[in-house]
Amino acid sequence: MAEAGHLDDSICWDWARSLNWGVIFIHSDLTVRIENQLGASLLDTGFEEDMVVPLADCLPSHSDEYRVLQDMVYAQREFRDLFLLWQTNGRVRHVLLDSYRIRREDGTVAGMRVIAKDLGNFISLEKRLQQTNRLLTTSKVAAGIAHEIRNPLTTIKGFVQVLDQVISNLPAQMQSSERNYVDTILSEVERVEYIVTDLLMLANPRRLEKTECSIKDLLVELEPVISERTLSQNIQFEYSAEDLPLLELDKEMMKHAMLNLIDNAIEAMADETHGDAAAGILKIHAQRVDDLIRIDISDSGPGIPYYETDKIFDAFFTTKDGGIGLGLPICQRIVSDHDGEIRVSSKGYGTTFSVFLPLSASKAAHLSSRSG
Ligand SMILES: Nc1ncnc2c1ncn2[C@@H]1O[C@H](COP(=O)(O)OP(=O)(O)OP(=O)(O)O)[C@@H](O)[C@H]1O
Ligand SMILES: [Mg+2]
Repeated sequence: MAEAGHLDDSICWDWARSLNWGVIFIHSDLTVRIENQLGASLLDTGFEEDMVVPLADCLPSHSDEYRVLQDMVYAQREFRDLFLLWQTNGRVRHVLLDSYRIRREDGTVAGMRVIAKDLGNFISLEKRLQQTNRLLTTSKVAAGIAHEIRNPLTTIKGFVQVLDQVISNLPAQMQSSERNYVDTILSEVERVEYIVTDLLMLANPRRLEKTECSIKDLLVELEPVISERTLSQNIQFEYSAEDLPLLELDKEMMKHAMLNLIDNAIEAMADETHGDAAAGILKIHAQRVDDLIRIDISDSGPGIPYYETDKIFDAFFTTKDGGIGLGLPICQRIVSDHDGEIRVSSKGYGTTFSVFLPLSASKAAHLSSRSG
C-alpha cells in the first residue's frame, strides 16, 4: 500500500501511535490501513503494525458505519467534528470524527484519513439530562405563551364572528370583499388556535388514558392514514412488526407522536423528486430489544446535518416554510410521559427516529393509573 505511505515515515508512525484518537487511512479501493490501537478499536478489530484489511472485513457492509465511511471515501468528503452514534459488534458509543483527503504526489486523491475520538457513553447520559431540562423549560414557556395568546384570541374570534353577522346583513353586492377579509381572519385565527392547542399539549398534556394495547395493532390502525400520505407523495412504504408484548399506552397520544414522526419523514422526502421514480422510502419496524420495545421510523431523505441534531427537539426550531417546530417537542413529551425515550440517527443521508418504550413501565403505569 505505497499510496498510504505518507505515514511511512517513522516520525509520523510515532505520532499516530501516541495520539489519543483513533487513526485509520481508507484507500479509495476501500482497504484500510489501521494506524494505531485506537483506530483498531474504532473498527473493533485487532491491531498489528502495517495492517491493511478490506473495510468489509471489519464492518458489515450493510451497516450504517460502513456506509458512512464508504460514502466519505467515494465522495472524498472532509468532515470536522462529525458527531456519530457508532455501533460495532453490539458495542454502542459516540464518536467525534474528522476526515482528510490524502493526495498522491500528482495531486490525485489516494484516500481519506479518518481521525476519531471515542466519547464513550457518558454523552448519552449528559444528553438525557439536557433533554429533561429542556423539556421542563419548554413546558413552562409553552404554558406561558398559550395562556397569553388564548384570551386575546378568544376576543378577536368573538368580534370577527360579530362582524361576520353584520356583513351577512349587508346588501349582497357589498358582501364579497368584506367576506373575504373575514374568512382570511378566521382561517388565520384557526391556525393560531392550532398552535395554542399544540402548546397546551406540550405544557400540560391531557391526563393519559392508558389501556393495554399492542404496538402492532397501533401500527395497523395507522396504516391507512400513512398509506394515503405516502401514496400522494409517491413514497414507498414498508412496515413490519413482530408479535410484541402488550404495553400500557395512551393509544391516541402515542398515535399522535408516531404521526408527527411519520409526517416529518414524509416531508423530508417530499422535496426529493426523481421524475416518476419513488421519491423515497419510509420504513417502520417494531421489535423487542431486551426490556424495551423499539420502534424505528426511517426515511431516505437528505438527513439532518450534525450541527442541527441538538436543536431539532427545541420548541419552534424548524427549517420548513410554514413549519411551526412543535412536532418533535410534542413527540418527546408524549414518549417521556410513557417513561420512554426518542433517539435520532442521521448520517449524511436518511434519518431514523427510534422510539424506545420500556416493558417494565407497563406494570408501573398500570399500578399508578389504578392508584390515581
Ligand atoms: N425525518 C427528518 N428528516 C430531516 N429533517 C428532519 C426530520 N425530522 C425532523 N427534521 C428537522 O427537525 C425540524 C423540527 O421538526 P418538528 O417536527 O419539530 O417541526 P416541523 O416539522 O418543522 O414543524 P411542525 O411543527 O409542523 O411539525 C424540522 O424542521 C427539520 O429540520
Ligand atoms: Mg414536524
